[in-house]
Amino acid sequence: MAAQLVVALLALVSLGAASELDCKELVKPLVLDTHSPIYGKWVLHVGMWDEPDLKSDLGTVKSSWVELYPSSHAEVINVYWADRLNEDKCLQGLATATISGITTHATFVINGHTSYHDGKYYETCEACLLSEDTTLLPDGKSKGRYLFLYTRNGTLESTELEKFKKQAECLKFSPEYHFASTDLCPDDRETNTTAAATEKTESDQSEA
Ligand SMILES: *[C@@H]1O[C@H](CO)[C@@H](O)[C@H](O)[C@H]1NC(C)=O
Ligand SMILES: *[C@@H]1O[C@H](CO)[C@@H](O)[C@H](O)[C@H]1NC(C)=O
Repeated sequence: MAAQLVVALLALVSLGAASELDCKELVKPLVLDTHSPIYGKWVLHVGMWDEPDLKSDLGTVKSSWVELYPSSHAEVINVYWADRLNEDKCLQGLATATISGITTHATFVINGHTSYHDGKYYETCEACLLSEDTTLLPDGKSKGRYLFLYTRNGTLESTELEKFKKQAECLKFSPEYHFASTDLCPDDRETNTTAAATEKTESDQSEA
């Protein structure tokens, strides 16, 4: 009888251990070197946030893609971004991010508003990009964090989504998700080589 109880208790203990998260194993920062696997075009699949203000900002984003590519400076990467907003408006532009160790610092000018972002990338599924983005106020204080999972094709297997959710839990995000659509904004660089001019055209159209 006692032996059976011990066996049952041991089984419970090992179940408990299995369901606990091994965050050290799940969350490994990506070292951003020149052979970085982060380059290329990425489509946002899901985003999370840790502050309500950030939730409302992300809520307006229907779809989003970015293209990361090297610049002429080893420590600077180019970030071309394109967001489709809920009212079916496309915004796009080019930003640069400076790499220092495992962190990137970027300044985005979106619709005339400047925002500052510290980015960190983590190991993730094959053909996926996992980035944690801390939005900074002009005085350098944090406004909160986003967690973004991008894939090459915009979709994700459910097993990979489950792993992402565990990683998010390790990074202390509450389980609320904003899933993005794959209805992407067309790349304006293909028709117009001046990103800034393109942005202007977009806002002119929306005012008309
Ligand atoms: C898209 O990419 C994700 C992440 O690598 C993968 O799980 C999924 O199977 C891919 N889907 C298609 C249709 O290729
Ligand atoms: C690019 O945009 C500018 C400014 O809106 C415009 O004057 C120019 O004609 C465009 N070029 C092309 C190739 O569409």
